[in-house]
Amino acid sequence: MSELVLSERQGAVATLTINRPDKLNALDVEVLAALRGRVEELAGDTSVRCVVLTGAGAKAFVAGADISEMQDLDVDASRAFAEQGHATMAALENLRVPVIAAVKGFALGGGCELALACDFIHASSKARFGQPEVKLGVIPGFGGTQRLARRVGIGRARELIYSGAIIRADEALRIGLVNAVHAPDELMGQVSTLAETIAAMGPFAVAKAKEVLREGEGMPLPAANALEIEGFAQCFGTADQSEGMGAFLEKRDAAFTGA
Ligand code: COA
Repeated sequence: MSELVLSERQGAVATLTINRPDKLNALDVEVLAALRGRVEELAGDTSVRCVVLTGAGAKAFVAGADISEMQDLDVDASRAFAEQGHATMAALENLRVPVIAAVKGFALGGGCELALACDFIHASSKARFGQPEVKLGVIPGFGGTQRLARRVGIGRARELIYSGAIIRADEALRIGLVNAVHAPDELMGQVSTLAETIAAMGPFAVAKAKEVLREGEGMPLPAANALEIEGFAQCFGTADQSEGMGAFLEKRDAAFTGA
């Protein structure tokens, strides 16, 4: 497997690191393919309960899609590139387990879109976010027009995308783009602790919650509520439900199996 995306394990938490620091982890065709490969590896590993996605080096999470690779694309080639980007983002978004983006530095363009394909984002106080594609004469192509609007509201997404503005971590927190901002040397530790907490919960329930939240987002409320009722019901009869409720009543820690 390519070293362009590193995969490490600590217990039930897997960490993926985009590893092209000399180009601020810019996403070219090879990095996208490597990331897709790593995500597919994790999708097949039932012992993984939570994933952290980050970028190598202190300067960037991902500074965008690779501009030097995009410069000479024609209409058909750019469509294929956007499709590849979208497929990679979708693979991440559809992973059964939660994915936390840990953003240390620049998350611009495709980097912001990549973070948005994760379940939620924690950032270093040095992080910077933006969709600066219009400065390059293009629009976001890896889901930014849609996922950013759903995360922060359409008015804020319009302003960010039309202006190409790059915002600081505290502003990203204020508008709900990120869930939390940490001191730079505390980011990875705080995210690991949170990932371990999530990994210790009932795995069937966490995966079902992720699925219902994701699938329900685009549905009318009555249909989304029906999805929740079905998801809730499916949890009953699982070993995790018996164990979780039994452990509470017996005043002991639950030992979940994910079954
Ligand atoms: N695509 C390709 N290469 C990129 C890149 C991208 N999106 N972002 C950074 N790089 C490369 C630079 O070309 C440079 O390569 P070089 O050393 O071979 O010249 C290297 O990464 C370091 O970047 P540099 O620009 O020198 O760092 P900086 O600290 O001066 O500036 C940024 C950092 C993030 C402000 C600047 O790199 C930038 O604006 N990047 C593009 C952001 C963007 O528009 N993203 C959206 C793309 S759709």
